[in-house]
Amino acid sequence: MKTLLLSAPGEFQDYRRQLHKDVCIGFVPTMGALHEGHLSLIKASKQNNTHTVVSIFVNPTQFGANEDFTQYPRDIQKDFKICQEAGVDVVFAPEISQMYPNNDEISINPPKNMGYIYEGFIREGHFNGVLTIVLKLIHLICPHHIYFGQKDAQQLLLIKRLVSDTFLPTKVIPCPTQRDFDGLALSSRNIYLSPQDRKEALKIPIALQNIKKAIQEGEINTSVLIELGKKELKGLEVAYLDACDYNLVQIQKIRQNASIILIAAKVGKTRLIDNLWI
Ligand code: PAF
Repeated sequence: MKTLLLSAPGEFQDYRRQLHKDVCIGFVPTMGALHEGHLSLIKASKQNNTHTVVSIFVNPTQFGANEDFTQYPRDIQKDFKICQEAGVDVVFAPEISQMYPNNDEISINPPKNMGYIYEGFIREGHFNGVLTIVLKLIHLICPHHIYFGQKDAQQLLLIKRLVSDTFLPTKVIPCPTQRDFDGLALSSRNIYLSPQDRKEALKIPIALQNIKKAIQEGEINTSVLIELGKKELKGLEVAYLDACDYNLVQIQKIRQNASIILIAAKVGKTRLIDNLWI
């Protein structure tokens, strides 16, 4: 099987039109710098669809003015090879001007209660950028299934809202966070960590493990669980450690299949996020 590399939206639309009407398209949107986390999404897509499309696009509108847009790792050849080896049907890698052809762009606002807390509070305009590009990509790719990692919990919940509130004919498939051998959640930004940072960063998954264990032992009081997590995170610059429901409303008590613990912390110069779905 040959993996196609398409860069123009029109080219993708031509490809999509010539497919048989019975195909089932799985779509994995990415910003490249592919790692095992992305591969797990690709694998999930390949299992349940006839065709898998991966987009690689470092989306400028989701980066704040002081963020790492220009430094963000880019290696399209390496990423394309990874996709080829994983059996991806199409890699869609557009230019910025192709996804944003106008100076005065349409932008999607997230719901006020979900879009401007946690990541949305720290990263002004971040979710406007994410929702805008994901909406454009869904319209273009027309996937039956779209795959997202649970690591970006707030992003995943907001995209579910985007899909349901705007009646998009696609199903969002959440996939579990992939971790390195030492427990650190995989992220394209982990390459920014020095060896010392990396050791410090492990406090994050350990804090989540401790919280998980306490919940398994019957603790449901979120103030107790958060204190437990804080103890482990000492020394890190914690942006938030919180417990909320799937509407991102803070909760006092854990409810099974309805709660998340969210962490964001800076390690050295790198901001990491991780979470626990309960
Ligand atoms: O999670 C990401 O990599 C990005 O936010 C996404 C969903 C590809 C949109 O640019």
